[in-house]
Amino acid sequence: MSEQTVSIRTTGKVIQSPCGPIVHGLEDVLVKITSISDIDGRAGKLWYRGYRIEDLAENSTYEEVVYLLLYGKLPNVKELEDLKRRLAANRDLNPATIEVVRSLAKAHPMFALEAAVAAEGAFDEDNLKLAEALRAGRYKQEEKDLALKIAEKLVAKLPTIVAYHYRFSRGLEPVRPRADLSHSANFLYMFFGKEPDPLATRAIDLYLILHADHEIPASTFTALVIGATLSDLYSVIAGAIGALKGPLHGGANEAAVKSYLEIGDPAKTKDLVEAATKPGGPRLMGVGHRVYKAYDPRAKIFKKLVEDYTAKFGDPQKLYAIASGIEQAVLSHEYFQQRKLYPNVDFWSGIVFYYMGIPYDYFTPLFAMSRVVGWTAHVLEYWENNRLFRPRACYVGPHDQQYIPLNSRT
Ligand code: SDX
Repeated sequence: MSEQTVSIRTTGKVIQSPCGPIVHGLEDVLVKITSISDIDGRAGKLWYRGYRIEDLAENSTYEEVVYLLLYGKLPNVKELEDLKRRLAANRDLNPATIEVVRSLAKAHPMFALEAAVAAEGAFDEDNLKLAEALRAGRYKQEEKDLALKIAEKLVAKLPTIVAYHYRFSRGLEPVRPRADLSHSANFLYMFFGKEPDPLATRAIDLYLILHADHEIPASTFTALVIGATLSDLYSVIAGAIGALKGPLHGGANEAAVKSYLEIGDPAKTKDLVEAATKPGGPRLMGVGHRVYKAYDPRAKIFKKLVEDYTAKFGDPQKLYAIASGIEQAVLSHEYFQQRKLYPNVDFWSGIVFYYMGIPYDYFTPLFAMSRVVGWTAHVLEYWENNRLFRPRACYVGPHDQQYIPLNSRT
């Protein structure tokens, strides 16, 4: 292939180097064509397969969104019922995987999730069969169907891994999945050991819908890089989980609700926001976004759920009031307005999880339980026209150094 020079549009930081300009953090750099999701960062809009996130949030379930993202269209009644049946039939884990989760009961659940996904993949015959076909250079309809089957299994199994870890970490026996409950109701049933309140189920389901895909954030890019080497799909997801663990990506909802608890009083929110505007001041978790330069539409949607939830179950630690105080201070402060910093998807969700009694450590695993469908959808789409990711670095060190034997070195 002959060399060509391309121009790249970016609003990000560009590092000048002897080899040419480097877009720091690949900000705005295009890496694939997709029809899975689109973001209008300036207008604060998000679409899944062309459907507005507001319409999906109001009218869909997570299962329906899983079908939409994987198959490219909204399911009819039979297609949705068939998908629900397949997901319910795949919620169980290999016994060896359960022992991996149990052995990591004292570790943070994100470590257990990474390890258990890799372990489950080691025993999944479909996963090994697809990996063999990819290795042999085959990706025809049979392999595509197998990839979709594995993607559905991953969607079905992550909630079981997360719930089992919670049970083991509290010295409790796991609660087996129930095929008669929806994806979100079954997760809460396995987690707490009792059938959940409908509003709690709605909260989880809405959270899963809102986090299902978001174009190419760090964890999805990680999935693409691993998938492009033709590694197996479970290893793709284990790697993406590792990327999501970072506080600049996943995990901000845990940090946000901890900051609300630390403030403890709505009257103190202005001081916290002011402190965040000073050089070296604290970053407000749940605020700011690399792409959104407007209010994150997902945050707007979830805020209404928090209002309903705290209206029904109360707001004893004033978390909604504190978060609202921060929101109003951010929206009216020139520091944030100048930098186009607004609440993002992580600003509100931790409040509901906290009041539901879900421990902080499980907030990012919930994010992974949702985004697993976006990660797999993007890799399957990329495999249609696969190419290994292999960027370069600009070397600025010396060459051809004289080798000095060890005993001659000072
Ligand atoms: C997710 O990409 C995705 O799609 C991710 C995600 C998804 O669905 O997959 O949407 C999920 O990751 C949401 C983001 C969750 N993370 C947080 O809420 C952590 C807090 N946010 C920030 O750390 C930050 O806003 C980032 C990391 C999200 C984005 O940062 P950028 O684009 O790298 O911006 P930057 O660090 O260059 O900051 C630009 C300016 C700086 O000030 P100046 O140097 O110009 O004076 O804005 C300031 C920053 O100091 N700034 C903040 C701030 N975020 C940026 N100041 C105070 N509080 C903040 N939260």
